[in-house]
Amino acid sequence: MSFRIIGTGSYVPEKVVTNFDLAEVIDTSDEWIKQRVGISERHISTDESAAEMGYKAALNALEMSNVKPEELDLIIVASISNDTICPTAAGTIQKLLGAKCPAFDVNSACSGFLFAIDTAAGFFARGKVKKALVVGSERMSRIIDWNDRGTCVIFGDGAGAAVLEEGDGYLESKIATYGGDDVIKIPSGTDASPYYNKETEAAHVFMDGQETFKFAVNTITSEIQEITEKAGLSVDDIKYVVPHQANIRIIQFASKRLGLPMEKFFVNIEKYGNTSAASIPMALDELNRTGDLKRGDIIAMTAFGGGLSSATCIIKW
Ligand code: UT7
Repeated sequence: MSFRIIGTGSYVPEKVVTNFDLAEVIDTSDEWIKQRVGISERHISTDESAAEMGYKAALNALEMSNVKPEELDLIIVASISNDTICPTAAGTIQKLLGAKCPAFDVNSACSGFLFAIDTAAGFFARGKVKKALVVGSERMSRIIDWNDRGTCVIFGDGAGAAVLEEGDGYLESKIATYGGDDVIKIPSGTDASPYYNKETEAAHVFMDGQETFKFAVNTITSEIQEITEKAGLSVDDIKYVVPHQANIRIIQFASKRLGLPMEKFFVNIEKYGNTSAASIPMALDELNRTGDLKRGDIIAMTAFGGGLSSATCIIKW
């Protein structure tokens, strides 16, 4: 037994920051950001935590699914940027929803939502749950160095959610980790121990953009090929790929290498930037709400990011 997705939701905070707004405070331009990354604007939270945004996305997903919070057997939240470590983002969302089920967070950076989905699949496989809520929610703006133009122009805030129920929709998946801190690193910041003998590093995103770019193109391409084959399908059977929205050029390279037209890749990076673990569920919700997904459609979701990590799955809608 696996699951099928019966509802999706998303939420972004109200404040929009355009490339032009950023060009007023750091040395960048609308032209550079659009050409090199594909972003025009992003939403930035002024007063909501990742958990609070995740709660609003969850409400939308529950409404679409016609599922009440008390029917949930499990809540998993993927996030690296919640305001508190404890309570977990999942614990806060559980409380705000009024749900009673176990709830916990998963951290695998931008691949987090797909790691969380894969974790949920294990609960379904053991017959432990009938309905689960999986959320990806990020307030990346709180862990960005706003003076570093190589990173601060690419990230944004937001949340996405999916409600899963028992079914046969999770066809194949791969989650992978290539541990190391040389490509992407986000120190956790505070260190109050009088016995700890190392300097505390700022809790900012440190990223080697070009290495991440190469890793992303290679993993998207090889994992989609590997996972579709394992599922007994060909890439031509895929109706849509929902990729992590990190850079439009990464998606264009993957499209070329896979021989899959860009029209099959759902892209919304222009409006939201890179929202880390929230990017895939936000894109999935936007795609779902176009009404273009039909039961039985084959969808690939693929992510990469800090860890380094990557994850890809094939679902039958
Ligand atoms: O979700 C986590 C995973 N993260 C990613 O997937 C990120 C993957 N990497 C990327 O998307 C790209 O590498 C970046 C968008 C981060 C950077 O783009 P790039 O084309 O790799 O730029 P670069 O770092 O090679 O820099 C090229 C030039 C440099 O100037 P010089 O040395 O050639 O004069 C940079 O200083 O662009 C300059 N630059 C900028 N210029 C204007 C870097 N950032 C900016 C900026 N505005 N914001």
